[in-house]
Amino acid sequence: MTEATPRLSIFPLARERTFDPPDELTRRRAEAPLQRMMYGDGHEGWLATGYAESRAILADARFSSRPELMHSALPQRVELRRGPLPPGFFLQMDPPDHTRYRRLLTGQFTVRRMKQLEPRIHDITESRLDAMEREGAPADLVRSFALPIPSLVICEMLGVPYEDREKFQHDSSVILDLEASTDEITAARDDLLAYLGALVAAKRKDPGDDMLSGLTASGELTDAEIAGMGLLLLIAGHETTANMLGLGTFALLTNPRQLAVVRDDPGAVENAVEELLRYLSILHIGPTRTALEDVEIGGTLVRAGESVTLSLGAANRDPERFEGGDTLDVTRSAQGHLSFGHGIHQCLGQQLARVEMRMAYPALLRRFPGLRLAVPPEEVPMRATSAVYGVRRLPVLW
Ligand code: HEM
Repeated sequence: MTEATPRLSIFPLARERTFDPPDELTRRRAEAPLQRMMYGDGHEGWLATGYAESRAILADARFSSRPELMHSALPQRVELRRGPLPPGFFLQMDPPDHTRYRRLLTGQFTVRRMKQLEPRIHDITESRLDAMEREGAPADLVRSFALPIPSLVICEMLGVPYEDREKFQHDSSVILDLEASTDEITAARDDLLAYLGALVAAKRKDPGDDMLSGLTASGELTDAEIAGMGLLLLIAGHETTANMLGLGTFALLTNPRQLAVVRDDPGAVENAVEELLRYLSILHIGPTRTALEDVEIGGTLVRAGESVTLSLGAANRDPERFEGGDTLDVTRSAQGHLSFGHGIHQCLGQQLARVEMRMAYPALLRRFPGLRLAVPPEEVPMRATSAVYGVRRLPVLW
């Protein structure tokens, strides 16, 4: 590394432009796609911004996802990672524990259940659009559309009563808030776990046709394990898709030619959704992995015990993989993007998220052909300090 570019200290989160990763990450990627970075706890770890390097790390079993091995790239989240992991929260486990939980849950993501959900997603989308029409403009697209659709879908799928949404929407957003204190996050997590634990106990006595009931029927899991899996699904299943819908609509409204393709060409929607996933890369920071042994990645040696934090946003814009990647082009092939991760932890809900987005974007744009921002773009409040990037509110007119 040259003297002009001193070692990066702490993962940068502040973005100069709404839809682009922080410039610092782009600069670092051009300079060295895997380079040293100082962590919040003083650990000398690594930052991965290149596509090939990120993909290689995610695919390599010599890197662990366990929080007790991991250093935090941000100062304020250091203690958090030391808390005990709820049983069943397999996002942060390695094989064989990860394999066991993931296999049991994959058995619940059946083709039948996904097929059953499709007409429900259609109905949910239409009823949200009806409500928007009834209530009239202006509306906050997050509250009226982007958040309720994935929240309702995940509730139906898991068998969580939607009336309880305020609790889980609030608790999830605290857990994902990069500036929340350890106490706040622990309280939100314990609150959600207690709620899910009671729900699972009730389903054991009186099962329904939902995923939590299905997991109790497996006979292989305790209530606490199912509650931990439910916690992971509730957090992963609604905030992510909601932010894709909110931020994606914002991006389309500021790119009218791209918007017209999504609205007018049903054959282009599948590809457009992949490009929006790539271009927006809503995971604001990470994932982070820790080397279990010395590993060489593209000629660079990462030593056992060292953490590597990825920027999927920078990797998905890597010019070596996606030419002109800083431009949103819904007609490009965005295949191979890393927005759902890669390797053994690759997103389990990706097909569901795709179905939701493929239905919701065109339905919204067709129902309201005159959809536009109700405020100048620079006044749209962003979720700059959440692990999942997006808009806090999106005021719209039609
Ligand atoms: C657009 C929406 C979504 C995005 C961008 C997204 C992104 C991701 C990413 C990047 C990972 C991997 C994290 C890692 O490697 O450490 C992941 C894992 C996961 N996601 Fe998603 N996700 C989305 C929607 C969903 C939905 C709707 C569900 C549930 C219904 C879901 C459930 C999960 C689960 C259970 C995992 C953990 C998988 C494992 O550890 O084996 N996600 N997601």
